[in-house]
Amino acid sequence: MKTESHSLIARPRRLRFTSTLRSMVRETELNAADFIYPLFIRHGENIRAEIRSMPGIYQFSVDQLTAEAKEIAALGIPAVILFGIPSEKDALGSENFASDGIIQQAVRAIKSAVPDLLVITDVCMCEYTDHGHCGIINTDSHSHLPEGYVLNDPTLDILARVALSHVEAGADIIAPSGMIDGMVGVIRAALDDAEFQHIPILSYSVKYASAFYGPFRDAAESPPKFGDRRTHQMDPANVREALREAALDVGEGTDMLMVKPALPYLDVLQRVHVAHPELPLVAYNVSGEYSMIKAAAANGWLDERAVTLETLTGIKRAGADLIITYHAKEAACWLSG
Ligand code: PBG
Repeated sequence: MKTESHSLIARPRRLRFTSTLRSMVRETELNAADFIYPLFIRHGENIRAEIRSMPGIYQFSVDQLTAEAKEIAALGIPAVILFGIPSEKDALGSENFASDGIIQQAVRAIKSAVPDLLVITDVCMCEYTDHGHCGIINTDSHSHLPEGYVLNDPTLDILARVALSHVEAGADIIAPSGMIDGMVGVIRAALDDAEFQHIPILSYSVKYASAFYGPFRDAAESPPKFGDRRTHQMDPANVREALREAALDVGEGTDMLMVKPALPYLDVLQRVHVAHPELPLVAYNVSGEYSMIKAAAANGWLDERAVTLETLTGIKRAGADLIITYHAKEAACWLSG
């Protein structure tokens, strides 16, 4: 028996790299510069109210934003995305496009405190309407449309007004999130008409009707008062529909695409990345994905640091260029050692 002959058999070998070589050939590198941090802003003074279902995430009053923005920028996080809680809600969501609305105030405060921090604003109606839906609702019982149906085209005019008022306040990027047909084109035209051609649009192109938004609705105080968002958000069972939605937004001139949520939709991220390599792709690692890790970590069931970095790396590996994540500040700290 000649045992040494085994070593002569040509066979594929697993890579056995030293740690230096392993880091040299690593395919995906996570950086603080990949992160976009969400902020919730409400009226009042001296408010830093932790959200019950999202430990470590707060609603801030505008006066608290200077310190927060400085901390975020110091961690190397280049951008924030803002969500507002208005003082009053009505059928049209009027505060959404008021020049002294909560978001308009917040944008001015952040841009004057930290001019280099990019401010992205979420443009949608659901946080501002008394019914909590993302558009104007049909109340005409004589119309052929069901009562409570989101009226697409009347909603577009409002979204354009909202986007313009955010940009006038100093927003750097507009992120329409309502999945209203035509929203990108209408906002692009409104911005161009007002000489804001240089402001990019990040469309929530592929947004699923997901139960993972649960904690966000606590944070933004925006649950729908009746029904759900399944008429305009996507069915979790579909992926070809995602490609169609992305292609529509590309046709209307979006500058960046988004897939939301992230974790249960990594295949969708990958498909959109392959279909549109010409555009930056953003993944939204949503509230429920954050809260799941927080809850498990609080019970001592998971190693939060390891699981979070693994999750964010997986999202980037699947095709995301940038990640909106509530873990941005902690992950930036962990990454800097
Ligand atoms: C809509 C909006 C939602 C989220 C971001 N923008 C809620 C929804 O679509 O119902 C959810 C994000 C999260 O869960 O973190 N303005």
